Amino acid sequence: MSTERTTGPALVVQNLTKRFGERTAFSEVSFEVAYGEVFGFLGPNGAGKTTTVRTLGTLIAPTSGAATVAGLPLSADNGVAIRSRIAVMPESPGLYLRLSVAENLSYFAGLYELPDRRARIERALRSVGLEHRADDLCRSLSKGLRQRVGLARALLTDPQVLFLDEPTSGLDPVAAREVHDLIDALRKRGVTIFLTTHRLAEAEQLCDRVGILNTTLRMIGRPDELREQLFSKSIEIRTRAPLADPDEVFAALPGAEGWQRSEDGAYVLSVTDADTAAPAAARALVTAGADLLALTPIRHSLEDVYLQLIDTDVEAQQR
Ligand SMILES: Nc1ncnc2c1ncn2[C@@H]1O[C@H](COP(=O)(O)OP(=O)(O)O)[C@@H](O)[C@H]1O
Ligand SMILES: [Mg+2]
Repeated sequence: MSTERTTGPALVVQNLTKRFGERTAFSEVSFEVAYGEVFGFLGPNGAGKTTTVRTLGTLIAPTSGAATVAGLPLSADNGVAIRSRIAVMPESPGLYLRLSVAENLSYFAGLYELPDRRARIERALRSVGLEHRADDLCRSLSKGLRQRVGLARALLTDPQVLFLDEPTSGLDPVAAREVHDLIDALRKRGVTIFLTTHRLAEAEQLCDRVGILNTTLRMIGRPDELREQLFSKSIEIRTRAPLADPDEVFAALPGAEGWQRSEDGAYVLSVTDADTAAPAAARALVTAGADLLALTPIRHSLEDVYLQLIDTDVEAQQR
């Protein structure tokens, strides 16, 4: 990978917007990515992920906003210079199926006018574990292996920033796992990666930080921070008879954030930490003279909350 000393952030994106006529692909998106980071761009189909990659990859111009890519301001004048510092692996790798793996890489190395082609190709093949498949025709490779050739192609230029657009989409679990392992190996070598995915688990597993996009950026943070923020925690409480004064019982509990009554009469208490709130709630209910039937901590999966988060976009629902 690039051993060039790199300072400042790898990507700075400020209020970036891209519209196609009436249609907004993404709007007012701002974030930064540091060198050495694996940044996940997570969102459903149509969220604007590919368009963001194409914009930052200088293939299309933004409608408004600004960005710095690998240290260079995003502008038409800087297109060639930016492209020489980055690599983009699109959703389908774009290989010549009638050529061998090595021939494909050799063709692209020539196209990029790279020096030391033989050594680069060998290095790229080693990086993706395909050194023994160099002479195989791409046509004969599985989808997963083709994806790895695509990754090798992207690595040829020793990019400062590597963009991977849905690198595992359409792969079976075994092939996806292999691509995950490769990305993890690149991450350990300190390669800066901008990875788009619609799979929550993939973003959680591979990325140092994740931004959740659905036309606008909904949330950004480390996976554990998102988990913390996204996990709604609550306790469901059932009593034989309605409480005389639920406010008085619940308000004094540690970490209680509010309560509501569900349709079937249970009290649903929102809390910051169910482990401390649940025993305190039990004590308070007994003290208040309530006949406690059940007290159950409820955990919504991260997936539930993620789906809820991306489903709240009216515009997206109309698409
Ligand atoms: N070239 C284009 N012309 C018009 N609309 C486009 C174009 N490219 C993408 N879009 C629209 O922009 C939105 C975001 O698309 P895309 O970036 O491909 O989303 P994702 O990669 O997250 O699935 C979609 O509504 C899509 O139809
Ligand atoms: Mg896409």
